[in-house]
Amino acid sequence: MESNCKLYAYFHLFLLFFTSLAQAADPQTDSLLTLKSLLTDNSNTLQDWSLNSNTKPVPSCSWSGILCNQNSTSVISINLSSKSLSGTFPATLLTAFTDLLELNISDNSFSGSLPQEIFNLTTLRSLDISLNNFSGPFPNGASSLKSLTILNALSNSFTGSLPTDLPLLESLKVLNLAGSYFTGSIPAQYGSFKSLEFLHLDQMNDVIRAEQQKDVYSFGELVLEILSNGKLRDAGRLVHNKPKDVLLREVYAENENVVEQEVKRVVEVALLCISSNHSDRPSMEDALRFLSESHSSRIK
Ligand SMILES: *[C@@H]1O[C@H](CO)[C@@H](O)[C@H](O)[C@H]1NC(C)=O
Ligand SMILES: *[C@@H]1O[C@H](CO)[C@@H](O)[C@H](O)[C@H]1NC(C)=O
Ligand SMILES: *[C@@H]1O[C@H](CO)[C@@H](O)[C@H](O)[C@H]1NC(C)=O
Ligand SMILES: *[C@@H]1O[C@H](CO)[C@@H](O)[C@H](O)[C@H]1NC(C)=O
Ligand SMILES: *[C@@H]1O[C@H](CO)[C@@H](O)[C@H](O)[C@H]1NC(C)=O
Ligand SMILES: *[C@@H]1O[C@H](CO)[C@@H](O)[C@H](O)[C@H]1NC(C)=O
Repeated sequence: MESNCKLYAYFHLFLLFFTSLAQAADPQTDSLLTLKSLLTDNSNTLQDWSLNSNTKPVPSCSWSGILCNQNSTSVISINLSSKSLSGTFPATLLTAFTDLLELNISDNSFSGSLPQEIFNLTTLRSLDISLNNFSGPFPNGASSLKSLTILNALSNSFTGSLPTDLPLLESLKVLNLAGSYFTGSIPAQYGSFKSLEFLHLDQMNDVIRAEQQKDVYSFGELVLEILSNGKLRDAGRLVHNKPKDVLLREVYAENENVVEQEVKRVVEVALLCISSNHSDRPSMEDALRFLSESHSSRIK
């Protein structure tokens, strides 16, 4: 009876060993199988991700979207782009990929938050999560991706402020964070990217406009300084203390021989340029157009 029990136990152990042997591929292949089981793959695009394909030593090296190193011992690229996949993206599973250079999950329907663990893939050179629906804040920790040269997150649903730690990525050449719902201004740190060649942010237009309006401000001050023969320096500050017509009188006093109407027009454009409310200031282009219009009306 006792030996029967023993035999039974051995048999169990054997079964356990056998089944685990059958399932256990290498850790990377295992991770991909688990990944597949957690993703929603309605179009069955990961059909060939199975242990039937018997490539040794890493079966997953022959699977679609997977690229291994030369001797097929380690996965270096995972390309799941445009595979109609959805669900959340279980980045915690990817710790087995210690040699991964590229991760591309672009153009799927991944949703939920972007797991911070995606930044544990410290060997990555390119990360493309564009054209999905990741939401919530963009996680902190991207600065651990020391070799990253491309980060494309175009067209998701991120909210909150733009991540401030990206400028620590000294190799980053391409950064695209446009097409989400980031709020606030561009972090001051974004002035310190080391290698950046391409930057796309929605706030970009605001910055360019602000820059133009900053230029137009100095331009307005300069025009008033010239018109007043140097009496009105720093007119932007003065205009807050003196009523507009007092300022105008100072300018007109210096321009007695010129038709008042013409000077008035130029002064008005200059005053618009130094408006304290940024959104009232014209672009440089518009300021020059206003001035040339007043110039041509003088020729008439
Ligand atoms: C496999 O190739 C890589 C380079 O692609 C090399 O670094 C590694 O040592 C090789 N491993 C084996 C087991 O041959
Ligand atoms: C990645 O996958 C997409 C779609 O399956 C394919 O069109 C593209 O060529 C692949 N890219 C690479 C670098 O293999
Ligand atoms: C990711 O890295 C962080 C910090 O290095 C570590 O604390 C965490 O355990 C890692 N997560 C995974 C899933 O390996
Ligand atoms: C990701 O895959 C898409 C589609 O295959 C491709 O257009 C894109 O260039 C890839 N991204 C990167 C960073 O290689
Ligand atoms: C994207 O995610 C947001 C937030 O979870 C959700 O409100 C929105 O409906 C989603 N958009 C699509 C196209 O699935
Ligand atoms: C600035 O001007 C804009 C448009 O003319 C207006 O909507 C806004 O309220 C003004 N802001 C201030 C602080 O006056």
